[in-house]
Amino acid sequence: MKQRLEQLQQDVLAALLKADDEKSLQDVKVGFLGKKGTLTELMKGMRDLSADERPMIGSLVNTLKDQFESSFIERQSILRQQAIDAKLANEKIDVTLPGRRSTSGSKHPVTLVTEEIVDIFSRLGFMVEEGPEIEQDFYNFEALNIPKDHPARDMQDTFYITDDLVLRTHTSPVQIRTMMRHKPPVRVIAPGTVYRRDSDLTHSPMFHQIEGFLVDEKVTFGDLKGILTHFLNEFFGEGLAVRFRPSFFPFTEPSAEVDIACVICGGEGCRVCSKTGWLEILGCGMIDPAVFNSVDYDTEAYSGFAFGMGLERIAMLKYGVNDLRLFFENDLRFLKQF
Ligand code: PHE
Repeated sequence: MKQRLEQLQQDVLAALLKADDEKSLQDVKVGFLGKKGTLTELMKGMRDLSADERPMIGSLVNTLKDQFESSFIERQSILRQQAIDAKLANEKIDVTLPGRRSTSGSKHPVTLVTEEIVDIFSRLGFMVEEGPEIEQDFYNFEALNIPKDHPARDMQDTFYITDDLVLRTHTSPVQIRTMMRHKPPVRVIAPGTVYRRDSDLTHSPMFHQIEGFLVDEKVTFGDLKGILTHFLNEFFGEGLAVRFRPSFFPFTEPSAEVDIACVICGGEGCRVCSKTGWLEILGCGMIDPAVFNSVDYDTEAYSGFAFGMGLERIAMLKYGVNDLRLFFENDLRFLKQF
């Protein structure tokens, strides 16, 4: 019995040393002290011992148990430390490595032209105003002299939300909202998002416009021409040829469309200007007295002009972009160029 105990002592201590993780360490413990463990089995032989052998063997067993316990704890703490060391080594951060720079974004080309246009008009004393993109029929159409069955409603394919609510088809409703809140003189520039049921190479269902208008005493078509010519020269370059063509809008009378000499061919005639040498750039006119009536402005005392233009189109011409869809795809390779 004594010999078998000594043998067991050697085996079990060796097994502890061999265990290389917590799990196998536990396995050794169970194999030694568990219900069917080697020590438990061995102690079943105790009852066959004589009365004087029993205390001696008993104290040997206790010593072995104590020894096992302290070796077990020692091994366990070594293994735990090793596990921590390995984890730390794995997660080591080399603080001497060069850092990763965060890349900075840039402004969208439509934002760039919006800011530049607002800037030019701000210097002329225009204030920025905004209005809602979900607009009432009244502001988008009715008050702008476009009654329900007016053929002009066909000019703009409208997204209707309800009978009375639309996604605004232009920024012109900001004219109405502003004039209802402010008495003349008013000088306003109003950029914003607008929507039309239109989608092809040159049309997107969502796009941007900028509206401008000025109301005061004795404002003439000459003032309109002067201000727009000044703006176009500031924006596209000094000496740019500009022409005003008669046109029609329900909310202006007289109305005009403004062309500039083609920025691609300089007026020679090319694919972009359809060989005409001219590019249509904006719509404008003297605010119709019917509009003044809907905002309660005195048509005898005041006159004014308004204009509106598409910002994607302006950005295309300014930066020589030939496909409208590029503005909405947000491909970084495109956006990084601005
Ligand atoms: N709202 C017109 C459009 O969307 C543009 C415009 C604005 C024309 C102001 C004249 C005056 O086409």
